[in-house]
Amino acid sequence: MPTTKVAVAGPNGTLGPTVINHLVKQGFEVTLLSRNTEKAAQQYPPPIKVAQADYTSMENLTETLREVGGFDSLVILINRRDLEPQIKLIDAAIAAGVPHIVPSSFGISTESPEVRALPQIKEKIEMEKYLVKKADEGKVSYTAINTGLFFDWGLEGPGIPVNLKGGPTWRADGGDVALSVSTLDLIGQAVAQAVRKREEARNSFLYVHSAAVTQNQLLQYARETAPERDFPVEEVDTEKAVADAEEKMRQGATGPRVAAPAMMRVSFGLGLGLFKKVDNAFLGLEVMTEEEVKAVVAKYVRKQW
Ligand SMILES: NC(=O)c1ccc[n+]([C@@H]2O[C@H](COP(=O)([O-])OP(=O)(O)OC[C@H]3O[C@@H](n4cnc5c(N)ncnc54)[C@H](OP(=O)(O)O)[C@@H]3O)[C@@H](O)[C@H]2O)c1
Repeated sequence: MPTTKVAVAGPNGTLGPTVINHLVKQGFEVTLLSRNTEKAAQQYPPPIKVAQADYTSMENLTETLREVGGFDSLVILINRRDLEPQIKLIDAAIAAGVPHIVPSSFGISTESPEVRALPQIKEKIEMEKYLVKKADEGKVSYTAINTGLFFDWGLEGPGIPVNLKGGPTWRADGGDVALSVSTLDLIGQAVAQAVRKREEARNSFLYVHSAAVTQNQLLQYARETAPERDFPVEEVDTEKAVADAEEKMRQGATGPRVAAPAMMRVSFGLGLGLFKKVDNAFLGLEVMTEEEVKAVVAKYVRKQW
């Protein structure tokens, strides 16, 4: 069987390392499309190839894809807010005859109207609509993967869904609402499997998670790991938090502090952060045991920040 050729756009962000690692593990031939080829080449030595991406021009992107040639799939890891580069890339892939795209979905399910109305994911909705339209026209196929919250990324970075770094956890609606979370490693596996199964997974939105967790469960694991430490919480009534944020917005406030409550409301208050059904089995992906979830929490509790 010929080797599967995969292009990966946006390798220098959060998902690059895990996605590229798992694509290479599957034996795929990987070419990275990057604005910063020097950085990409330093991090990813041959046989991984690196090509210059110029997102200002659909023609240039097409030419780049044609030059390497013969791609079976394009994986897009560009930040969801950067809509234009993603649209240009989708058009370029179609023009260059790339038959399959894994778009930069990687988050909350966009099925429900409450999620679709979130300003934070406006561009993601636009991108998905555009790609689905192109697929409906028979120009390309896609497999979108939603993953819920990035678990280890959230604990390491912003301190969500629980803060193990010293600051307070914003505990939403009592803390017992379950949420789908995925480790970066699982996300890399999911992408590689979706490329491998691209025929069976044609034109579908897939849902994967490492586990369904609650904030109280994670706080309990943190306290068991370090009983001497305090893990403070600030209670958030998500309905009230949204009303307060809306009032502030009416007075002209903008930014993440007024935008965050809407995401919390949808994820926790409305329970939409939990996938009702996951495609882990279809993609051959494990769901974590309770002990494995505890081990992730313990790793970040013990980390020296
Ligand atoms: N569910 C979650 O908890 C969660 C958390 C974080 C991210 N995400 C999702 O994961 C995906 C990747 O996010 P990320 O945080 O890794 O993004 P990022 O680091 O901001 O960007 C990823 C890569 O995209 C390329 N890029 C960035 N800005 C660009 C622009 N204006 N034009 C063209 N290319 C650009 C860069 O690659 P080069 O420099 O190599 O060109 C960059 O390294 C997104 O879909 C995001 O929504 C989800």
